[in-house]
Amino acid sequence: DLGPYRHFMQKEIYEQPRAVADTLEAALDGDFSIDQLWGKGAAERLQEIDRVLLLASGTSHYASLVGRQWIESIAGIPAAAELGHEYRYRESIPDPRQLIVTLSQSGETLDTYEALRHAQTLGHLHTLSICNVAESAIPRASALRFLTRAGPEIGVASTKAFTTQLVALYLLALSLGVLRGRVDATALHTHREALRQLPGSLQQALNLEPQIQLWANRFADKEHALFLGRGLHYPIALEGALKLKEISYIHAEAYPAGELKHGPLALVDRQMPVVVIAANDQLFEKVAANMQEVHARGGQLYVFTDLDSHYEGGEGVHVIRLPRHAGLLSPVLHAIPVQLLAYHAALVKGTDVDRPRNLAKAVTVE
Ligand code: M6R
Repeated sequence: DLGPYRHFMQKEIYEQPRAVADTLEAALDGDFSIDQLWGKGAAERLQEIDRVLLLASGTSHYASLVGRQWIESIAGIPAAAELGHEYRYRESIPDPRQLIVTLSQSGETLDTYEALRHAQTLGHLHTLSICNVAESAIPRASALRFLTRAGPEIGVASTKAFTTQLVALYLLALSLGVLRGRVDATALHTHREALRQLPGSLQQALNLEPQIQLWANRFADKEHALFLGRGLHYPIALEGALKLKEISYIHAEAYPAGELKHGPLALVDRQMPVVVIAANDQLFEKVAANMQEVHARGGQLYVFTDLDSHYEGGEGVHVIRLPRHAGLLSPVLHAIPVQLLAYHAALVKGTDVDRPRNLAKAVTVE
């Protein structure tokens, strides 16, 4: 049932404050029990971990690219993220103390499932899945599991599954941090308070829709676009580019902004729209310098920043400001505008938003 919405994708974008709040419920009520969050025996198992490998595909992989940074910065444990279909066909070095984390909305993605089986045949016993469908293959095959509570996701383009995966990964980083003694009671309290604010901030980000719709009108006749971000927001640039490609069929590429001078800057001219995720974090000044490089070549800048960065942009630069910068949780908020941009670009182009050509919701073949 679509209710007041035109498409499932739009409905699912708007469900995110609720989906994130539901996914956080068990972690924010009560006393942050690791076994309750991840399953029986989790505390004991996770205590043994000294490395993490995150395996997934598509949007779920982009969530893991954020997650690995949180795991390193919050828990102090080395973490890597890899596409399942790459991992399963290369020679890797198994480590019995490595936690294998699979992320999947559907729980049926063959590439991810087979990567998990491959890890198990290499001897990995510590497996954990973050999944949105309880009765599915990937959580069933994992030792530990966390179910995101996004509810059914119908649109082929993943939206609420992504943001709920992100918060699940944040909880994983916190859990590992608590077990390692890196996150003490005071720090845990601060993190949980920040998480409590998240649904309200997501709602504020959704309120930017009318401004984003105006941008989308300018986008619809473009054939190419660049997305830039750095650090925690580079995966959001990747996600924005994938969403745009997937449903509006506009060719989009994402780069870490620091990579511009190493090649992609050659693409920038007056015709090239460049979307920048310029959150007000410690990399903001670096991103601002990269934006200047684009501006100097006549590129059309579309900048998502935070209110407190006070970034003005200058002539010909389009700026949309999210509410106050949300620290480590910022990528969850910055996911919303890039979803809305892709959605509205697709509406202008008249594509089949919920069922883009050539794609399936769950990719159960190789
Ligand atoms: O169900 P999964 O999360 O395992 O699916 C992985 C990808 O196929 C999926 O995220 C895909 O990239 C989406 N269509 C992106 O919007």
